[in-house]
Amino acid sequence: MSFTADRLLLFGATGDLAQRMLLPSLCALHADELIAPDVKIIGTARSEMSDSEFRAFAREALEKYLPADRRGGMADFLNRLSYQTLDATTLDGFDDLARKVGTPARGLAIFLSTAPSLFEPTIKGLQHAGLDGKTVRMCLEKPLGTDLGSSCEINDAVASAFEEDQIFRIDHYLGKETVQNLLALRFANIMFEPLWNAAHIEHVQITVAETVGLEGRVAFYDDAGAIRDMVQNHMLQLLALVAMEPPSDFDATAIRDEKVKVLRSLRAVSGNETVTGQYRAGAIGGQAVPGYDDELGKDSDTETFVAIKGHVDNWRWKGVPFYLRTGKRLPQRRTEIVVQFRCVPHSIFAEKGARMEPNRLVIGIQPEENISLNLMAKVPGLDREGIRLRSVPLDIAMPDAFVGQHRRIAYERLLLDLIEGDQTLFVRRDEVEAQWEWIDAIRAGWSANGVVPKTYTAGSWGPSAAIALAERDGVTWNE
Ligand code: BG6
Repeated sequence: MSFTADRLLLFGATGDLAQRMLLPSLCALHADELIAPDVKIIGTARSEMSDSEFRAFAREALEKYLPADRRGGMADFLNRLSYQTLDATTLDGFDDLARKVGTPARGLAIFLSTAPSLFEPTIKGLQHAGLDGKTVRMCLEKPLGTDLGSSCEINDAVASAFEEDQIFRIDHYLGKETVQNLLALRFANIMFEPLWNAAHIEHVQITVAETVGLEGRVAFYDDAGAIRDMVQNHMLQLLALVAMEPPSDFDATAIRDEKVKVLRSLRAVSGNETVTGQYRAGAIGGQAVPGYDDELGKDSDTETFVAIKGHVDNWRWKGVPFYLRTGKRLPQRRTEIVVQFRCVPHSIFAEKGARMEPNRLVIGIQPEENISLNLMAKVPGLDREGIRLRSVPLDIAMPDAFVGQHRRIAYERLLLDLIEGDQTLFVRRDEVEAQWEWIDAIRAGWSANGVVPKTYTAGSWGPSAAIALAERDGVTWNE
């Protein structure tokens, strides 16, 4: 399936994701001349709009969400756009849509950024109008179901029209630069891999902290909660990249084969290994923010915070806990992976009164992209009263190391890969299903035990039980 698509059909073209991410990413790729001049972008959604109205809509989104210095050639970019109104629940409009798409010279990439309930009718409509076949790629945006069963239904519906090598499931975290850098760090350096196992690593922490609340996504979020919104996809992908065996190549099959092995090795979590929370009114950065129930306008048992102690049951990771936590309305926006090594087996400095700390590798994904390795060093001095050692960071700030490279939106890479047909950074069906299996078991445990989220004040690091979850193992969250 190697072709570069020359038509991109965007379902949900007037939606939030299109405005914030997809149109800005495409325009940025255009500005950098990364998409061929003949690539046409056709937007479709239920709203009535003409081509020129859609272009005006896109211009507004670009001016709002894409920095001015990345909008080069915006007028030419807008000329690539056209629009077709469509109600995807009936077959009627799909023939008009096919006419609008025309006959691609090389191939068609379709991006479904709609409610999952529309996936099945959309696929039927596409088949009806002949917008399927070998030169079509189908890209699906989350949420891909709400549990294993509904995810399988979506996957089956898509598989009825497209082969797996035509299906591109988005997890936008895989498009983030530092997430890919994790692979470079692990597999382009000799020094980490020999230590990357239970003999040398004591535990791993993955934090995805957000300051935002509901952001108007009331119905969606209250149905999903933090575990399905963030852990099922992004956090498990991060965990899989940290824990996977070295793949033989940087290619879609090799990498995804290794990730799925990790996901299938996740041990079922027991009741005392998870903590859920829901924020109450508080303050972030000096700004008062309302509680979840106030934002929602009703009471709810949905968790806006979750912490999990996970285990990967295989030789490499035997006995190494993976602490995951994510939440809304936490004090900072911060996504990071912390790999905490074990202490040296014997300290030659003990008799001199020096305190040892374990080495810690911190991979900052956002807002700053940096890698920091904490090493023990001697505090300068004549040491008349014993040797003093302190942990000091060896820091690489990516923007400083690669001056002149602008930070890209994760979707830029993913859209380019979709157009060019590279599935490496997309999630395969077996991965999604393994992810759901683990999450479903946790949720089933919650409902069997009547777990309700504990409250936490907006602007704090979640319920105190989340701190205790790590502390009872002698572990402190990196803060
Ligand atoms: C989305 C979730 O998948 O990821 C949102 O639905 C969340 O709730 C977002 O805010 C976080 O993405 P990022 O790239 O800002 O970390």
